[in-house]
Amino acid sequence: MTNACISGTGFYVPPRVVTNDDLIKTYGIETSDAWIQQRTGIEARRYAEAGIGSAELGEHAARAALAQAGLEPVDLDLIVFATLSPEFAFPGSGVILQDRLGLNSGANAKHVPALDVRNQCSGFLYSLATANAMVRSGACKHVLVVGAETHSAALDLSTRGRTVSSLFGDGAGAVIVSATDDDKGIRGVHLGADGSQAETLCQRVWDIRERPFIPLDDEGYGRVSPEFMYAHMDGRMVFKHAVAKMSGALKTACEAADATLDDVDLFFFHQANLRINQYVAELLKLPADKVPHNIERYGNTTAATLPILLAETVAEGRLKPGMKIAMVAFGSGFTWGSALIDW
Ligand code: ACO
Repeated sequence: MTNACISGTGFYVPPRVVTNDDLIKTYGIETSDAWIQQRTGIEARRYAEAGIGSAELGEHAARAALAQAGLEPVDLDLIVFATLSPEFAFPGSGVILQDRLGLNSGANAKHVPALDVRNQCSGFLYSLATANAMVRSGACKHVLVVGAETHSAALDLSTRGRTVSSLFGDGAGAVIVSATDDDKGIRGVHLGADGSQAETLCQRVWDIRERPFIPLDDEGYGRVSPEFMYAHMDGRMVFKHAVAKMSGALKTACEAADATLDDVDLFFFHQANLRINQYVAELLKLPADKVPHNIERYGNTTAATLPILLAETVAEGRLKPGMKIAMVAFGSGFTWGSALIDW
């Protein structure tokens, strides 16, 4: 049977660095570098400039991944785009990226299909599962999977919103999932969800069950209250569930592939909070040097954390062919996932 492997990785973060002190100096948020670092491990994040959206961030990452795989955009059979910060309510960022890759004109007018995945922090693993299935079934040879977020545009950058806004940053990561006859690649992706917690971590913006779906003022303009406009979360509840589900999902990934945690060379954790990840690593007795992290530099880039971390680790020469790696994520939904890959 055909296997699916990751043939290329790429990432892009916007150049503007926003440190914890910048949140105080630039935005007047009452916080401190010590508070944020102590609870989350975050030192800085990146913010994109106005005019730049998730598809544009994703394009940089996608082109880097394509180049590493030795492919052109026209070689793709499918684009899967994971984001919670698409340009518009609809259509999704996938089609915007598809057009930016030049797939609708001239000799490259292949009209490659594009699909958006709305699974927040576990969006990359849900997308990877989709790509894996499409490649292994023989429906696709090369699938581009992108995770990209432009959080900075939709954060409450005031003291009112500090619990959430201090955590998030912008960025994009991409991988190419390709068919291979070699005995390597994605051994399994395991997904889970608990929709009873849908509102524990959520950004409503509107409620489609209401008429009108956004309250209107006297002049007919929509009025969105700050509670609806910005993400809110019960941080302690998220922390508790994240630890339980991430440790369980990692064990599931190993058991399903007849492997043990000791067999894994590197563990890629969703970068939501360094303390969550340290807690999980401690519970599972994982050596710290097997758990790379970059949250201190980028904050939580949601769907982009895993592909950025993968791409950085490849670029550093730390992730090498023949290694066994595990990935795990947990987030809004609640949704979670894990994967085991022979690189
Ligand atoms: N700076 C200073 N003070 C702050 C900040 C801030 N950035 N944010 C909150 N506070 C204050 C609060 O206002 C509160 O003050 P009060 O006691 O006077 O009311 C106090 O700190 C404690 O607030 P809590 O929300 O209870 O703080 P907690 O210790 O739970 O830490 C945190 C908050 C860091 C979000 C923690 O709950 C957490 O890490 N949760 C996990 C959630 C997570 O990582 N989510 C990421 C997105 S989801 C995902 O990707 C999985």
